[in-house]
Amino acid sequence: MADQAGDPLFQSQDPIFDRKELLHVGHVPDEDRIVGRDDEIESVAAEIGAITRGDPPNNVMIYGKTGTGKSLISRHVATRARNAARDNGIDCGVLYVDCSEANTETRTTRQLALSLKDGTDYRENIPVRGVGTMEYYQHIWAILEDCFDAVVVILDEIDKLDNSNILMQLSRAREARKTDAYIGVIGISNKVKYRETLDERIDSSFGHRELFFHPYDASQLREIMRNREDAFQPDVLADGTIELCAALAAKKHGDARKAIEILKEAGELARRTGSETVSENHIKQAQEVAEINRIEELTSGATVHAKLALYALASHIITGERETYKTREIYQRYVGICDLVATDPITENGLYRQLKEQAFLGVIESEKTGGGRSQGSYLLHRLVTDPKHIVKAVRRDASLEELPTYGRLTETGPATGGRDTDLSSFD
Ligand SMILES: Nc1ncnc2c1ncn2[C@@H]1O[C@H](COP(=O)(O)OP(=O)(O)O)[C@@H](O)[C@H]1O
Ligand SMILES: [Mg+2]
Repeated sequence: MADQAGDPLFQSQDPIFDRKELLHVGHVPDEDRIVGRDDEIESVAAEIGAITRGDPPNNVMIYGKTGTGKSLISRHVATRARNAARDNGIDCGVLYVDCSEANTETRTTRQLALSLKDGTDYRENIPVRGVGTMEYYQHIWAILEDCFDAVVVILDEIDKLDNSNILMQLSRAREARKTDAYIGVIGISNKVKYRETLDERIDSSFGHRELFFHPYDASQLREIMRNREDAFQPDVLADGTIELCAALAAKKHGDARKAIEILKEAGELARRTGSETVSENHIKQAQEVAEINRIEELTSGATVHAKLALYALASHIITGERETYKTREIYQRYVGICDLVATDPITENGLYRQLKEQAFLGVIESEKTGGGRSQGSYLLHRLVTDPKHIVKAVRRDASLEELPTYGRLTETGPATGGRDTDLSSFD
């Protein structure tokens, strides 16, 4: 490699990364790099495993927070099931749809039909536009009938789908004599709350088991990252970096994706600053960036008012003595902040609903507190993350970048006009 001719501009070896692809978000690790999910692998296999013996599988819904290995384990088990089925002479397919992209029934069925057709000798043309859901179902049934004995359909982030009809269609297909192939559905959702709405949306034809994936602990995260150490050049990772990264990620959310992202970001930081090693300091900085990104992502769909409400709560926490604040207190500060950014405030009740939405997204936690018989009960809100990260994430909204960095505000506006601050570590 090193002796090859060519533009010297592109000749130098990456000083930090060797196999960076191991740290890419979509990278599916080999089996021997999967850590700490043996029980989950077995549970998923137990639900869909019948397919490998030519029997009907169970459907399964997998719930759990992001980065707990739901997508990875589903794909892994489905692929192994397909191979085991093939060994038994059963023609089994695996289909994967990310419903956060294919977020309508039409898009999902289109993708299912197109990927089913892929690699088969099904001759009919499947139009990409101009046809509806029913036509895609027709193709799906026809391909299944012609080319498969069984199929595992993974519907990832299924809560993003605008309706749940597809679950009924897939589970009734045999009964309705659309196809003889067995269909096993693995539905995945990051939102445990989706479980309640799912029961309202579907009927009993989509019989299914439920599995819950729990966040990883520090030692599991450590091992997940150790298994990808060869993403880096030898001796680049300083002692203790993986341990620190795992500890930080475990403390936050037990999210393997974030842990890997932090490790990668730390490497990039080291490279940008010309450092030869990735140090604990790089990890800490990368962790902050990752957390702010996460908050920004979570709040990206939120209204300006929700963001201002979060900012108001953050500023309360930074300047006050408590960790939790009442809706009323947040509202009062919010009104002052609205004035600052020349926005008309919404009503207190409106803001209350925005706060509830944020609790649903996991940015805040809200807890009902009984104030005793005479006082009635009220909600107390706390931030799930460092308030400084909230302030930074909210200020990334172009219309809100004028907000003070440190959140030192009173109910009537900023206490100090300028941006000088005694919270010096803030920016
Ligand atoms: N048990 C594990 N062993 C190795 N890598 C894992 C494990 N769990 C998750 N990962 C990695 O972490 C990232 C997030 O996992 P993913 O399955 O996408 O989580 P989820 O779908 O629950 O959000 C992926 O890059 C995945 O490869
Ligand atoms: Mg996933």
